[in-house]
Amino acid sequence: MPNEILNRIHRADLVLTNNFIAGEWKPSLSGNSFDIVNPSTGHHLIEVTDSNADDARAAVDAASAVFPAWRATSARARAQLLKKWRSLLEANQEDLAMLMVLEMGKPIVEARGEVAYGASYVEWFAEEAVRAAGDIAPLIMPGNKQMVVKEPVGVVAAISPWNFPLAMIARKIAPALAAGCTVVAKPAEDTPLTALALVKLIEEAGFPPGVVNIVSTSRDNVADTVDVWLQDPRVRKITFTGSTVVGKHLARESSATLKKLTMELGGNAPFIVFEDADIDAAIEGLMKAKFRNGGQTCVSPNRVYVHVDVYDEFASKITARVAAMRVGPAIEEATNIGPMVNERAVEKIHRHAKDALKNGATLLTGGDRIRNELADGPNYFQPTVLGNMTTSMAICCEETFGPIVPLFPFDDEEQVVAAANDTPFGLASYFYTSNAKRIWRVSSALESGVVGINQGAVASEVMPFGGIKESGYGREGSRFGLDEYMHLKYLCHGEID
Ligand code: SIN
Repeated sequence: MPNEILNRIHRADLVLTNNFIAGEWKPSLSGNSFDIVNPSTGHHLIEVTDSNADDARAAVDAASAVFPAWRATSARARAQLLKKWRSLLEANQEDLAMLMVLEMGKPIVEARGEVAYGASYVEWFAEEAVRAAGDIAPLIMPGNKQMVVKEPVGVVAAISPWNFPLAMIARKIAPALAAGCTVVAKPAEDTPLTALALVKLIEEAGFPPGVVNIVSTSRDNVADTVDVWLQDPRVRKITFTGSTVVGKHLARESSATLKKLTMELGGNAPFIVFEDADIDAAIEGLMKAKFRNGGQTCVSPNRVYVHVDVYDEFASKITARVAAMRVGPAIEEATNIGPMVNERAVEKIHRHAKDALKNGATLLTGGDRIRNELADGPNYFQPTVLGNMTTSMAICCEETFGPIVPLFPFDDEEQVVAAANDTPFGLASYFYTSNAKRIWRVSSALESGVVGINQGAVASEVMPFGGIKESGYGREGSRFGLDEYMHLKYLCHGEID
């Protein structure tokens, strides 16, 4: 095991590189492996087993064999196991955070926060498991009892992204288990280590073998592996967080067996600052929303609309804040922005900055890749503010997923709401104003699944997270999140008198 990992992890048994199928940690059937890179340095970190269709099928065999026994356990017993898992997440917070630092480049302070965020979903669904009650109708058909029961859908395939390597997979697996489903999971190619450690803690919590299975794959094998799940009729649900392009592929390819789907897809969030906003509060909100995870977040503001009356003040304040951010290796406590996840990500961010500047944007700070004594690796990008943005620029219609704040001046409420909605995406939007009537008007007009009103930090296990339009469908978190893993069965019991 490489020293770069072992020197930083307390529990060496949380560093896993094999698949977990039917309660056993084993290499993939092909015996191949692939390389995980530390984005902070660009250096090789470790090799992880590389799965293909055969491993994916074995995972479904295991999950489907144990499903009848697992669905028959009491909701209370499932809740107890989930609570045990949650305590193990908390007890191993530092190691889990360190794995995210090493494989994803998430700054250590944020990585600790992500462990707590993921654990909050596990706790929430442990509590919801025992409340998944159905319904009984009042007497409508004399001599009959009519009722609705909620039942687990069956085997769930959970496909999770690299940007939140722990929280996203936790908020898919936890409700599935709470509902009585079994799981086959695939973490993102860049970040399998955190997910494998998470599953190790599921094993340690005492979940029966086969209830949760995980296979890791390289980018080259991901399509073959996942296609097995899309086609297999035993897989009854796909839950996916990732790009809209991939989400559409999964929806299309799984349609032959009409699976239940939760799709948390791309965003292009608008952030509107009206002339009557508290400017300092809006700056705080934007800093939180935009720079969480270095801007590599689906709900990250991608277009910042600022009213012309407050534009100069806002632009100069946000520029000062952004220019003062510290970019550096994810492992350092003082780092505000770590590296981007990989070369492709930095290239896209750079392309967006160059395109805006070429088309007339003003450079207020940043704008380029960096490599210096603090940020000594290939994947760093300067936190950037661009002024006088227009709709002709790529940032306006593509999600940047990086640390660029693009400022678009506006002067009319109706026009800015139309501009905010002028995108196929509809995940999150934000606005700042002190006008109560405008709050209700604008929050109703914005086309997105989540709206931050005078608030930039919206994430919460208590509330439903998800989008509309091409940002997907289905919700994660909240009491609605459990229903995604259950179906309703209507029972009509006659001859009861
Ligand atoms: C995401 O970026 O995919 C999710 C972010 C969140 O949970 O707030």
